[in-house]
Amino acid sequence: MNNKRPLKQNNKQGDSETGSLLHSEHVVTVEKLAVGGDGVARIPFKDRSIVVFIKLAAQEDELKIKITFVEKNFLRADILEILKPSPARRQAPCPYFPTCGGCAWQHIDESEQVHQKEIILQELFQKFIPGVDFNLLPTIYSPKNLHYRNRIQLKRLGTKLGYFQRESHDIVDIDLCLIAEKEISDQIPMVKAKLRPTTEVQKFELKLNQKNEFEYYNIGDQGEGLSFSQVNNEINQKLVGLVSQIVTKINPTFVSELYAGAGNFTFDLLQKLPNLRMESVEMNSELTKFATQKLTSLSYQKRLFAFTSDCESFVARRSLSKQLVILDPPRAGCSDIVLKKIIETGPTDLIYISCHPVFLARDLQKIMMANQNFKIRHLQIFDMFPQTDHFETFLYLSTT
Ligand SMILES: C[S@@+](CC[C@H](N)C(=O)[O-])C[C@H]1O[C@@H](n2cnc3c(N)ncnc32)[C@H](O)[C@@H]1O
Repeated sequence: MNNKRPLKQNNKQGDSETGSLLHSEHVVTVEKLAVGGDGVARIPFKDRSIVVFIKLAAQEDELKIKITFVEKNFLRADILEILKPSPARRQAPCPYFPTCGGCAWQHIDESEQVHQKEIILQELFQKFIPGVDFNLLPTIYSPKNLHYRNRIQLKRLGTKLGYFQRESHDIVDIDLCLIAEKEISDQIPMVKAKLRPTTEVQKFELKLNQKNEFEYYNIGDQGEGLSFSQVNNEINQKLVGLVSQIVTKINPTFVSELYAGAGNFTFDLLQKLPNLRMESVEMNSELTKFATQKLTSLSYQKRLFAFTSDCESFVARRSLSKQLVILDPPRAGCSDIVLKKIIETGPTDLIYISCHPVFLARDLQKIMMANQNFKIRHLQIFDMFPQTDHFETFLYLSTT
């Protein structure tokens, strides 16, 4: 079955000026990689140069490319030939790469993947908050480059089970996944054999649960699975450790934590700071139920109020801490309502954990434009998702 994505046009005519470039061939050198994973190069066009995004490229590759998509200010291209490979290019460890759309950077060695993530973050900060001083600290590497994910989402159609193909809604039928924990990857053939064939795409989450037992279930239309948890246990522990270390230095008595999930950061903080009181906000009731059970078992009832609410309604009716606010929003970042409340509250310290650098930079711009007393005290990437262009960023701002 051919199930090509309807929204993606690969042969767009563009504006009349750049339209002439469609299907043209060029030789380029890749400068760097971009958010989304593509390589970035430039080709001369009239009196300017125009940016071209190239799928499956590596920085410093010398490539023969063909333009497949044109817009006024950028182009997209496919590789026709690798004339001189990047020194960071390698044979992808995964047998399904590059057909499988699950990972964007299996063809690049891990240290260069991290280097490119650092460039992406630095350039976004320079663009969104020009003139603001920051020092990007050395990235915290994932202890595992492969077999690190404690949950994956696969699609079922017919008898196939796997990820979508790159640029398509066709499914790549897989028997293993090198980024899933080994115990999950090894179960893929069993899950495939047990599921009934389907006529429509169905989504399944395969995971190791809290007891480290394998389970899988249909997740319907949920994008994020039934409830959020950090996917890379070992690097998550390092992130939780840094949050606690910084909060211990700030030594607040009251903290507001927004987008708190099941208390990934919350409980470590309450354990390490005996005089701390917290209010945490999370809209997924499954997660707050878990947090509430845990706070009861640890007898933290007087120190933690775990609210089941969207942060927007919460900030409309309650005050936030003037000492420290912790934010860990989903990929799209914080809503304007939440940012406005933080700006009005003016906490002396702010910790922002982000899984999308563009939205982090955008939110930071809004915060820093409204409050120029904030200084960037700690900025660091946690390479939570090796082999992909995604990463987690820890940001700590303080006015003191
Ligand atoms: C990136 S996760 C972080 C969760 C937690 N801090 C952790 O480390 O596991 C973002 C969380 O925000 C929740 N969320 C998303 N939008 C929200 C909103 N508008 N208000 C409250 N929670 C929201 C999601 O359910 C998810 O649990």
